[in-house]
Amino acid sequence: MLSLKGVVAGYGGGSVLQGVDLECAPQTITCIVGPNGAGKSTVLRVISGLLKPSSGEISMNGETIGDRSPDEILRKGITQVPQSHALFPAMSVRENVLMGGYLIRKNRALLRERLDMVLERVPIVATRASDNAGNLSGGQRRMVEIARCLMLDPKLILLDEPSLGLDPRSLSGVAGLINELNQAGTTVLLVEQNVRLGLGLATHGVVMEGGKVRLTGTASAVKDDPEIASLYLGGASASSPGGPSSGGPKAEAAGV
Ligand SMILES: Nc1ncnc2c1ncn2[C@@H]1O[C@H](COP(=O)(O)OP(=O)(O)OP(=O)(O)O)[C@@H](O)[C@H]1O
Ligand SMILES: [Mg+2]
Repeated sequence: MLSLKGVVAGYGGGSVLQGVDLECAPQTITCIVGPNGAGKSTVLRVISGLLKPSSGEISMNGETIGDRSPDEILRKGITQVPQSHALFPAMSVRENVLMGGYLIRKNRALLRERLDMVLERVPIVATRASDNAGNLSGGQRRMVEIARCLMLDPKLILLDEPSLGLDPRSLSGVAGLINELNQAGTTVLLVEQNVRLGLGLATHGVVMEGGKVRLTGTASAVKDDPEIASLYLGGASASSPGGPSSGGPKAEAAGV
């Protein structure tokens, strides 16, 4: 569905991404992990068109999108929930969510239909509809941020650190929402510092370091990789102690 091949990109002073290869199959959840500054958010930015790659190929369902504007990419069904809080604090929850439907604002019936879908999937949009977004807790805001990007019924949703600053309960709420969206057919690509949560939620894992992909594989294979376990998971394997690893395909070292 989504494919990056040899993507090089930066912010002016040299390349941050140094030849990134990445694939997301339809209806999978792929989680990118890696240390601060590895280029994880930058990967999401080149996909959503906020940053242009200087070389390499980005395609969605076989169509090149690396040279498209953020607006065109949005129209192709790719939406991003950024890492930092992005709601308008002085606007109500409902107004914030409606902003997500800006591209379809002229089609009132469709707007209404999408809003109904969002209200059903993300109940806080109904229960706190007229409260200012600025008065919500961090976890509640995260739910509304995701709800807002659902207004365009995305095929691919990009989430940068959805767990940031959330308590365990909000965390499981956001994780549950991501799972539901995925089950409803949305492909998910997320970046997560909380490696255990991210790889627990994901079907596939990608480990980045220094602007390159170091390892890819099924989420369980990446979790069970001894080096990943010692670097990010405090030594022990992240798999549940109950059974042997799921026996999925072995993680393959990727082009470094
Ligand atoms: N707007 C920008 N202008 C210049 N350099 C930037 C910009 N945004 C990021 N960078 C640089 O690009 C590199 C990768 O940043 P990026 O935000 O992609 O990392 P990350 O893996 O998402 O890190 P974190 O885990 O801290 O969010 C860093 O060295 C950073 O300083
Ligand atoms: Mg980041």
